[in-house]
Amino acid sequence: MCPAGPRGLLRFLTAGSVDDGKSTLIGRLLYESQGIYEDQLDSVRKASQERGRQIDLSLVTDGLRAEREQAITIDVAYRYFSTNKRKFIIADTPGHEEYTRNMVTGASTADLAVLLVDAQKGLLPQTRRHAYIIWLLGIRCVVLAVNKMDLTGYSEQVFSRIRNEFEECTAFMKGAQKHFIPISALVGENVVRPSANIRWYTGPTLLELLEAIDVEDSLDDVAFRFPVQSVIRSSPNFRGYAGQIASGTVRRQQEVVALPSGHRTRIREIMLYKQSLQEASSPQSVALTLEDHIDLGRGDMLVDPRKMPAISNRFIAELIWMSPVPLRTNALYLLKQHTRVLCCSISNVLDQCDIHRFSAKAANILEQNDIGRVEIETHQPMFFEPYSANRAMGGFILIDPGTNDTIAAGIVSEQVIAKADEKNRGEPSSLLLGQPAGLIVWFTGLSGAGKSTICNAVYIELLAQGFKVETLDGDVIRNKLNNDLGFSPEDRRENIRRIAFVAQLLAKHGIIVLVAAISPYRDVRAEIRRSIPYFLEVYVNAPLKVCEQRDPKGLYKRARNGEIAGFTGIDAPYQPPLLPEVECKTDRESVKACTARVHSAIFDFFVSRRQSSSAAIHPTASTHEFCGSGK
Ligand code: ADX
Repeated sequence: MCPAGPRGLLRFLTAGSVDDGKSTLIGRLLYESQGIYEDQLDSVRKASQERGRQIDLSLVTDGLRAEREQAITIDVAYRYFSTNKRKFIIADTPGHEEYTRNMVTGASTADLAVLLVDAQKGLLPQTRRHAYIIWLLGIRCVVLAVNKMDLTGYSEQVFSRIRNEFEECTAFMKGAQKHFIPISALVGENVVRPSANIRWYTGPTLLELLEAIDVEDSLDDVAFRFPVQSVIRSSPNFRGYAGQIASGTVRRQQEVVALPSGHRTRIREIMLYKQSLQEASSPQSVALTLEDHIDLGRGDMLVDPRKMPAISNRFIAELIWMSPVPLRTNALYLLKQHTRVLCCSISNVLDQCDIHRFSAKAANILEQNDIGRVEIETHQPMFFEPYSANRAMGGFILIDPGTNDTIAAGIVSEQVIAKADEKNRGEPSSLLLGQPAGLIVWFTGLSGAGKSTICNAVYIELLAQGFKVETLDGDVIRNKLNNDLGFSPEDRRENIRRIAFVAQLLAKHGIIVLVAAISPYRDVRAEIRRSIPYFLEVYVNAPLKVCEQRDPKGLYKRARNGEIAGFTGIDAPYQPPLLPEVECKTDRESVKACTARVHSAIFDFFVSRRQSSSAAIHPTASTHEFCGSGK
């Protein structure tokens, strides 16, 4: 069970694929718990009669939706209802729009998600995607409502199969509370009243569960954040700032910092219409006046200086790509976070979530419905926190500046490139070490040994710690830079010579360069090591047999069939390093373990170089023979 908490207001959202019966379910909940107002019920009765049917409860929510579409405010996206045991707020919006709105408007404050599945269809890719998004949104209680049980003859077997499949595919939801209820929203079974036809199910109905469930209120204890929406100048002497408190609580006389200016001042007054308050909390909309005259405008933010957000132009985020037009790296997008709109670009797609296995897979683009991790650069600093720490500060949307369409919803990853946080993490970072003078980490090994995989994982780690880092991947370089070269021994030497040249140029400017190339010749690698002192060699070692089994690009098969001549390992040599700094045996070690070792070798290298350069300042130190190394 979820940690106990008071059974106050329960905020929940519903998600399901088209035709899973979401509208009918909500209609049924509202109708049977008397949450529908009589006038709404009247119009539903009329509309149902016009269509020659008995009362159609999906019209209740459809009616609400139409009402919403015309409304300017977003509050009508929520449906409030109560029983004598509890108060509820349902966030219900169709399809993908749901998640954009959830994140941006605060339905991301939901405590619980009801995920609907059609018993006849079972789990769809869409259900899996929704489950993942719910998890990303920080919701830790999920109710899987298996609907349309009447159409499966109330089969316990069907229900158990769906239940098991869901348990299996959401094994990643560590610590989550999962509930399963067989229902028929249409007939009204196990929604509010128990079903006489589903005797094998002895658990609560959906409403009973919602009334009784204890959910953790994870929204306590977040710092005060106030995005300024507008400036009020009702008289020459009055200057107030209006907006909605995004998180936390503000009190009179509390000290605040204005971002991005950094000016400190105190809150003079908190106004709610004409009333003056002692304190106000999220999600109240208030007007604040300040003790000092500081110039604030829309998009600026007042924050609690005791707990500052991260301020950076670069961060890692998880994106849910919603546009039919695929993501384009380096294209100009608009990033909207509360009232702040920034120009931004996506400099890198780091990976993508494989929704069938819920694991990361390599990707360099995201298409509609894809979820993936990206690196974002904004033209002006953004103020943020990881979504997991503060939902209001970690959510944003991306907008296409040409069409004004919302193209993606994003949440700031825990691996933010957040300077402010790093000091507290107790691990080496660019702040502690300073950006060092550059380094080349050279991953060598057979095709399919795992060079790119480990290289990318190391890249993400370093990036998240604030280092300047770049990768030069054999496949990419051959495609973009060395497409005039083939795989003869001369061409391979030339390929490596050029890669080493570019790597050295980058490293000279303080960048950590990660090279992943087969680089089969020992003498060529030794030559690079001789000419570049800041060089680490990583041998990514997997037996040929294993690489052939993996054969990610199908090239080994083609080489064996004689379609490719001179393939490394088959009919061209590979000379393993004799004394690499790190050896990763990828047939026995996990990617995580390999990444950790490369990472620590990089830090050891920097630490020893730092010690040797401080030895240069204090020549009596015993390590003075290392003076100047790495320069
Ligand atoms: S290197 O030998 O010159 O260092 P590099 O790492 O740039 O090779 O490129 C290797 C990639 O090219 C392999 O991962 C594989 O996808 C592709 N490739 C195509 N032909 C060959 C070949 N004959 N031998 C090895 N790799 C090949």
